[in-house]
Amino acid sequence: MSGTAKQLLGEIEGFLAQFDITPSKFGVAAVNDGHLVAKLRKGSSVTLKTADRVRAYMASQRRAAPSQIACRATVPAAYRVLLIIGGGIAAYKCLDLIRRLRERGIAVRAVMTRAAQQFVTPLSVGALSNDRVFTELFDLDDEREIGHIRLSREADVIVVAPATADLLAKMAGGHADDLASSVLMATNKPVLVAPAMNPRMWLHPATRRNVAQLAADGIAFVGPNVGEMAERGEAGLGRMGEVPELIDAIASLLSSSAGASVSAKPLAGRHVLITSGPTQEAIDPVRYIANRSSGKQGSAIAVEAAALGARVTLVSGPTRLSDPAGVEVVHIESAREMLEAVRNALPADVAIFAAAVADWRVATQSDQKIKKSPGKNAPRLALVENPDILKAIAAERSGRRPGLVIGFAAETQNVIEFAQKKRKAKGADWIVANDVSPETGIMGGDRNAVHIISEEGVESWPELDKAEVARRLMARVASRFADARAEPA
Ligand SMILES: Cc1cc2nc3c(=O)[nH]c(=O)nc-3n(C[C@H](O)[C@H](O)[C@H](O)COP(=O)(O)O)c2cc1C
Repeated sequence: MSGTAKQLLGEIEGFLAQFDITPSKFGVAAVNDGHLVAKLRKGSSVTLKTADRVRAYMASQRRAAPSQIACRATVPAAYRVLLIIGGGIAAYKCLDLIRRLRERGIAVRAVMTRAAQQFVTPLSVGALSNDRVFTELFDLDDEREIGHIRLSREADVIVVAPATADLLAKMAGGHADDLASSVLMATNKPVLVAPAMNPRMWLHPATRRNVAQLAADGIAFVGPNVGEMAERGEAGLGRMGEVPELIDAIASLLSSSAGASVSAKPLAGRHVLITSGPTQEAIDPVRYIANRSSGKQGSAIAVEAAALGARVTLVSGPTRLSDPAGVEVVHIESAREMLEAVRNALPADVAIFAAAVADWRVATQSDQKIKKSPGKNAPRLALVENPDILKAIAAERSGRRPGLVIGFAAETQNVIEFAQKKRKAKGADWIVANDVSPETGIMGGDRNAVHIISEEGVESWPELDKAEVARRLMARVASRFADARAEPA
């Protein structure tokens, strides 16, 4: 693989992590080649002309989306992680790690070894951490402004990921011949290492000795895991821990060192109430009015809220989904039953109304199956309006009204405009708006493209898995509570 291709791939990986688009969509949008990223990852070369076009595309997208970057930059940083990135293939995972930590309000400053810069670029790391990236020990500016001693002390925790065999050896031996190892020698803060290497390197007696020494020195470890290696056909113990595992380990180290409870479970002690799925409005004992909602989005939000530590009540209309683990599910059929179940579940800190509630029901439900009378006129169904659950709960008196009321708006035209009006008319705090025109495949599908409408404005997210929409939405909810430091309901 040429140097140009390697550097370009690092920049692309940073861009993908920052904007969350799939590699094939990126390739198509940048140079009309859906396999571009896959080919680069396999080690193919690239012409300078293609590299220029890809870079121009990334620059234009970054210019077009300043609000997305600014929004992340404003998250208050309660804790600081100094991330030392070592020279292994798993360095690309650090881009996602930085993003996930920052979503939790944790500031990240990065130090990269020389070898690490062969795998990801300081440009990508800096774009995601929104901070300068430090690479050189003998950089006069760094020494005057910050210096390796200050760098090592200003963080709450130091994380080494990927921790190469070489970095582990240096740490165990007390070396200090570059910025990363000097910082590690100078620090008085807890250190967490995430080893990543070929299984033979991990099992080598030298690495065994170094790991035992570091554990005796009080260094914390996360991973490695068993799994496939980047080298074809190699598998075993040596794969770096996944990002959620690293976040859990960092959070627990922060909690014990900072003496405060930190962010792996930022919604602990909160009650999150979610509605989901369609409602069924009976016409007679066998027929009903319904809609195409699958309940997938509401269910994914419930899973995510529970993962962030919340007590979750999911009021769900009839779906084909199984009940999510760790969530209290109340099964209902009609809109009126849904409203009653929601009221019974109050108080809540957050209420998220993702259900597709039928707007109307038949005025008079027949007790008996309505008989077909061949040759005669078909029966006419008179409809009456169903209760407006979102509006009713948003209008609850203070103390009963959830601190954050979030509605969903499914539209087939003028999505943002209608949703902005809906937010005001219903008294909701946020509206999650999506386009459910049949060609989008959103209703019943696995993906969603939403706009978050709040008092502060509109934030448009790219098309994402419904699970990813749920994850981002709940991260936004968690950071809102972290900002407000509101009392639990
Ligand atoms: C393609 C490639 C992949 C590598 N992957 C790893 C790895 O996953 N783990 C590791 O310990 N070393 C790996 N190495 C070797 C390190 O890059 C090398 O030991 C380097 O000196 C580590 O520098 P650092 O510890 O200062 O980052 C790899 C080398 C190459 C060329």
